[in-house]
Amino acid sequence: MYNTRKIYDDIHWIGVSDRTISRFENMFPLNDGVCYNSYFIDDEKTAVLDTVDSSVGRVFMENIEHLLNGRNLDYLIINHMEPDHCANITNVVLKYPNVKLVGNAKTFKFLEQFYDGIPSENYLTVKDGEVLELGKHSLMFIMAPLVHWPEVMFTYEKSKKILFSADAFGSFGSLNGNIFSDEFDFEIKLLPEIRRYYTNIVGKFGQNVQMVFKKLANLEIDMLASLHGPIYRNKNDIAFMLGKYNKWSTYTPERKGVVIAYSSMYGNTQEVVSRLAVFLAQEGIKNIEIFDVSHTHASYIIEKVFEYSNLIVTAVNYNTTLYYPMEAFLKELSGVNIQNRNISYLSNTTWGGTALKVAKEILEGNKNMTVVGDVFEITSSMKKEQDESLLNLAREIKKSLD
Ligand code: FEO
Repeated sequence: MYNTRKIYDDIHWIGVSDRTISRFENMFPLNDGVCYNSYFIDDEKTAVLDTVDSSVGRVFMENIEHLLNGRNLDYLIINHMEPDHCANITNVVLKYPNVKLVGNAKTFKFLEQFYDGIPSENYLTVKDGEVLELGKHSLMFIMAPLVHWPEVMFTYEKSKKILFSADAFGSFGSLNGNIFSDEFDFEIKLLPEIRRYYTNIVGKFGQNVQMVFKKLANLEIDMLASLHGPIYRNKNDIAFMLGKYNKWSTYTPERKGVVIAYSSMYGNTQEVVSRLAVFLAQEGIKNIEIFDVSHTHASYIIEKVFEYSNLIVTAVNYNTTLYYPMEAFLKELSGVNIQNRNISYLSNTTWGGTALKVAKEILEGNKNMTVVGDVFEITSSMKKEQDESLLNLAREIKKSLD
């Protein structure tokens, strides 16, 4: 059964939510599924902007058929070639064999890598700034390489000033009928998931996001329509999202606060973390978040590290090197290009090892990571006489926040 919603009289949302999926890219846990957005423009020429994941293809194809109402589909715009958005291209071509697939040179390279049997006669290759006329609607294509794949492009609809922004401004989570951000309290309900989506999926490519921002600088944007998450049409919400993306893509902390990412096999390092957290709070630090890297998926911790100014990590030795889940977390954090953070270390060396060295090499390989305070070191467990030294570390961290 089709399920569409009007955005304007002749522009429709034809996306589908998948509430059964448990991991995005088979990696990132999903608390509430994900929505694959797609859009339909009904004009002298008809156009669909991106398809959806294979898991929700049936409803998507019914949506197109319903809106076409017996007409032909003229264009399928391919803003992004990741399979969560292009898995139904073959189905579209099979059903509407005259459809023109609109993409750039890299789009079609990826199309041929993923899928066989789509005739190249269907390709319509566009370049940066090129415009496709549908009738009342003109679509301008803006190349956005590495936001977050090399072939990504945005499509700007000129009459309504809609930026179809591929994965940019996307979010994890399903949409529940309310497809617009102004139809629910998106900041409370969704901001952490919007941030987790950006930081983990796009985070590595902040420089590329900034480059695209320069291209968008002279465009009026009255609507942001991503491939995931809500559509933004309210001026305040659009400004809010552009502001957040500017912070995230320049690796600027949103606010002062401390994330403690720890590992602890027998509870001794955890006790140090808990004591330090109390010292930090006593010193007047607000916004302290503690995560056990063995318990919490890295993507949630990375989201918080992007939000806050300070990070404390524990370097616990395991088999003479860094505890494996901590090493995996730090590599993932470094991989999304985290920068401009204050970092402090707690170390536990029961019988020696290179844990601290490994942790420092990973984290301090990123730009502008400022070490705050001396390493607080225990050998197996913390002793009473070390209390002052831990308090001193808390005070150094407080100074870094002032
Ligand atoms: Fe939603 Fe990069 O795919």
